[in-house]
Amino acid sequence: MFCYKNGARLRHNTNAAYAPFMSSHTTTSSLFATSVSASGSAAPALDLATAPSLTGSITLPARSDLPGHIGKYRVLRQLGEGATSDVFLAVDDFLHVEVAIKRVRSWAVPENPQGQISGRFFAAEAALAGRLNHPNVVRILDAVGDTESPYLVMEYVPGVTLKSFCRSDRLLPLDQIVELGFKCAMALGYVFRQGLIHRDVKPANLLAVLDAQGHITDVKVSDFGSALNLNADSTQVHRVGSLAYMPPEQIEGGDVDCRADMYSLGAVLYHLVAGRPPFDAPSQMALMHQIYHQPPQSLVGMRSGVTAELDAVIMKALAKHPQDRYTDWDSFGRALSDLVARQLVPLARLHEVKDSERFNMARGLDFFADFGDVELWEVVHRARWRRFPVGYALFKRGQEGNTFHIITQGEVEVIREDRHVATLGAGTSVGEMAYLAPNPDLRRHSTDVRVTEVCTTISFSPESLALLSPQTQHRFDRAFIQVLVRRLHAAHEALAHPRRIM
Ligand SMILES: Nc1ncnc2c1ncn2[C@@H]1O[C@H](COP(=O)(O)OP(=O)(O)O)[C@@H](O)[C@H]1O
Ligand SMILES: [Mg+2]
Repeated sequence: MFCYKNGARLRHNTNAAYAPFMSSHTTTSSLFATSVSASGSAAPALDLATAPSLTGSITLPARSDLPGHIGKYRVLRQLGEGATSDVFLAVDDFLHVEVAIKRVRSWAVPENPQGQISGRFFAAEAALAGRLNHPNVVRILDAVGDTESPYLVMEYVPGVTLKSFCRSDRLLPLDQIVELGFKCAMALGYVFRQGLIHRDVKPANLLAVLDAQGHITDVKVSDFGSALNLNADSTQVHRVGSLAYMPPEQIEGGDVDCRADMYSLGAVLYHLVAGRPPFDAPSQMALMHQIYHQPPQSLVGMRSGVTAELDAVIMKALAKHPQDRYTDWDSFGRALSDLVARQLVPLARLHEVKDSERFNMARGLDFFADFGDVELWEVVHRARWRRFPVGYALFKRGQEGNTFHIITQGEVEVIREDRHVATLGAGTSVGEMAYLAPNPDLRRHSTDVRVTEVCTTISFSPESLALLSPQTQHRFDRAFIQVLVRRLHAAHEALAHPRRIM
């Protein structure tokens, strides 16, 4: 029933997870390529999606065989390799930017019979060039197909894949795992709204961004080679993915929807928490049997700090039937961020405010109602977030200023000539008049603004706002216009009906 990628040249490793697992929808045959152990225990520190058996039977380019250039890009080093492609770090010497180049291996190009499938992978990913624009999705900048070895040019992500954190001796703190899960859920929600199902969500396809100290600062979903485009007419390869993270309906080759990716993300989170995937068996048949029939072992007790609630959130994603999983990505994301907000996961750094909390806080505010996810993430990352005690003078009358605040929590009062004129709460902006002022005179605050209830604000100066993308700046402009129109309207009302207002 099964045949192997690249025919007899690939030996079958019975201890392995089955990386790109696929078959044509119209035939019963399936194609497997082996990968490193799903438990991660045998995985090398470096992430190689290629199976030991694969490297044993196919000659991959040695380090000395690094191409000097790919197109106009100068190759610096190899970053990784997948089943059908090599990924290199390269530099655009003209623009001085580093990029990651994913090049289809020459034995896998469409002229070779086994290359037909990888050709489709390439086409699936190439079609997305320039289309996906989300802070937690790897950007595909360009695709060059008219060459012997077609390649994709991507944003370079400095870091490692999440496979590095699947080993039981290298597990991440639980709150960080939940935070990464939240970001992936929001990113996959964006991907789904673009009409795509990823179909190969697994640790090796989630890139962790590391800072100079080696701490994870962000995560990006990558490798859209298996993605199903719900809006495309052309025949697409069905039944793709890696068995260890694959839901029952995808193994069956039936129709999949976004809940298949939810299951896979659940399986990734399970692996990151437990140090082993939800199912692990010595043969593919046994593994499939478990995926169909066996509930995953509870995470409670498998690791200290795992609450019943954390277990339940991951188990819901891993439900056998899609209808028992989350109905949409937002619900999955909310379930994850609630765990942090309600302190149902131990917080490694107690007073740290998580990006997920900030994102949700901003999402709930009137001011940001028209901001899309992408713009909102930019606000979360670029704004200055501060907390002010009761009595703090946010602005003083007569002072010149051009920083504005959006209140996310708490309250401030506005005082004009010792008279209380207004109380402002979450979702309102203060200081925007001075910010928008066309000349220095008008930049002077005409009121005092004092904190009356411990207050968290998001603030921007003209300089920090200018660093945002044009789309996000445009959203701010529109939000300010709405604020000004509302104020103008209120002022007119006050003039027309002074009694009623007072
Ligand atoms: N944009 C990137 N930046 C840094 N490393 C990358 C990038 N894309 C891929 N890699 C590395 O290359 C490996 C293989 O890339 P991937 O796109 O998953 O290929 P495949 O489709 O062959 O699985 C990844 O596991 C990762 O280690
Ligand atoms: Mg991959």
